[in-house]
Amino acid sequence: MDFFHYKNRELYCEDVPAAELAARYGTPLWVYSKKTLLHHLGQIQTAFAEVDPVICYSVKSNSNLGILKVMQQAGSSFDVVSGGEFYRVKAAGADTSKVVFAGVGKTDEEIRFALENNVLMFNVESEAELDAIAAVAGSLQRVAPVALRLNPDVDAKTHAKTTTGKKGNKFGMDIERAEQLADKVLSDSRLSLRGIHMHLGSPILTTDPYAEAVVKAADVVAKFRKKGHDTRWINLGGGFGINYRKQEALPASAFAAVIVPVVKAAGCRLALEPGRFIVGNSGVLLSQVIYTKREGGKLFVIQDAAMNDLVRPAMYDAFHRIWPAKPSIDPPADYEVEIPGCEPADVVGPICESGDYLAKGRWLPPMSRGDVVCTFSAGAYGMAMSSNYNSRPRAAEVLVDGNTHKLIRRRETVEDLVAHEVGL
Ligand code: LLP
Repeated sequence: MDFFHYKNRELYCEDVPAAELAARYGTPLWVYSKKTLLHHLGQIQTAFAEVDPVICYSVKSNSNLGILKVMQQAGSSFDVVSGGEFYRVKAAGADTSKVVFAGVGKTDEEIRFALENNVLMFNVESEAELDAIAAVAGSLQRVAPVALRLNPDVDAKTHAKTTTGKKGNKFGMDIERAEQLADKVLSDSRLSLRGIHMHLGSPILTTDPYAEAVVKAADVVAKFRKKGHDTRWINLGGGFGINYRKQEALPASAFAAVIVPVVKAAGCRLALEPGRFIVGNSGVLLSQVIYTKREGGKLFVIQDAAMNDLVRPAMYDAFHRIWPAKPSIDPPADYEVEIPGCEPADVVGPICESGDYLAKGRWLPPMSRGDVVCTFSAGAYGMAMSSNYNSRPRAAEVLVDGNTHKLIRRRETVEDLVAHEVGL
C-alpha cells in the first residue's frame, strides 16, 4: 500500500503529478509521500500495540531531517548507528532518552555524546565495547544502560551482504556467551543490563526467523533474571520486507503474531528498529531520459539517475520497478514477464562503469529523450547510500503532503563538490 498511483496514464504522488515535480525541481529527484510514511509507521504501531512497543525508526535507511521530523511527530523514536545519526535525531527534536544506539565500532567520543544525551540503551556488539562504555560512563560518573546484541545464529535468507544474525557475521556476540557477558555486566557498577538486542538481516520476507529468534531472546532474558538482572527489554531490530516486485511482503501483523505472544509471556518491553518497512515504499527516484541507443543487439535507456544516486541494483542485484511517469501503456501487475507493446532494455546512468544500471533486460514501453522515468520503492537506502562518484552532485529531495510539496534537501551544486577540499 502506498500513495503513488497512475491516473489517466499519469503518475501521481498523493495529489501531485510526478512530472510537475520533475519540471519544478529538476531530475534526478527523490520524492517522498508523507501519507505513505505515516501509513507504514501506523501499521507497525497498530500491529504491536498490545505490548506498547518503542518503535525506533532506523535512521540509516533515510536520514533526511524532514523525514525524521515526520517520524518524530508521529510518535516514533530512533535507532542510530553513529554520532552523526545521533546528531541528526537531536536536530529533528527527538526525545533522546528513547534512542537506541547500535554499531560494531562506537568510539569513545560517540559513547560520551550518547550518554550525555541519556540514550535509552547501547546495543553492545563486543566485550571490548562493554569495557569502553564502562570506562566512559565511569569518567562521567554515570551508569550506562546496555543491551547485549546477541547473534542468534538464525538464517534470515537475505542477500549475503545484508544478513546479520548468522554465526560468522561481524555483528553482535555469540548467544552461547550471553551468561558470561551478563556476569561481567553484573559485576560492574558502571553498567546496567537492560535487555537483549538482535537484528537478523534485511529485507526479511517470512516470519520464521523472528519466531526462532524471539524464543531464543526470551530464554536468555529468563536466565539473566535468575542471575538478578532487571532485564526488561527485547529489541528485535528491523528487517521487515517490502513489496519491491509485486505483493511479496508480509503485513506487520504477521510479524506481530509470532513476536507479541512471546514478548508478553516473557514480561518484557519490546523495541523494534524498522527502516525499510516505513520509508522504502514511501519514496521514488524520478529521472529523465537523456538518450536511447541500440548497440550490441540491445536497447539502452540512458537517463540521468545513476549508481551514485541509487546503488542497490549494482550492489545487491536489487530489483526496483521502473515505469515512465506518463506512459503510453498502463503499468503492469507483474514487471518480470513479457509485457505486450514493450521491449527489454537496460536502464543505465551516465557513470563510467558497466555496473552503473538501475535495471537490466527490463520490459519497458517506448521511451525518448526528455521522458520522466520513475524508479519505485527507492525511499530506503537510496539517498542514504548515495555518493558524489564521477563528481555528480547529489539529487534534491521533496516531501509531498496531499496537494502540497516542499523541498527538504536542495540539489547539490558543483561548488558543493569542492567545498571541503583544502590546502590548494
Ligand atoms: N537495526 C539494525 C541493527 C540494522 O543493522 C538495520 C539495518 C536495521 C535495524 C534496519 O533494517 P530495515 O528495517 O531497514 O530492514 N543497504 C541495504 C540494507 C542494509 C541494512 C543494514 N541494517 C539495502 O539497501 O538493502
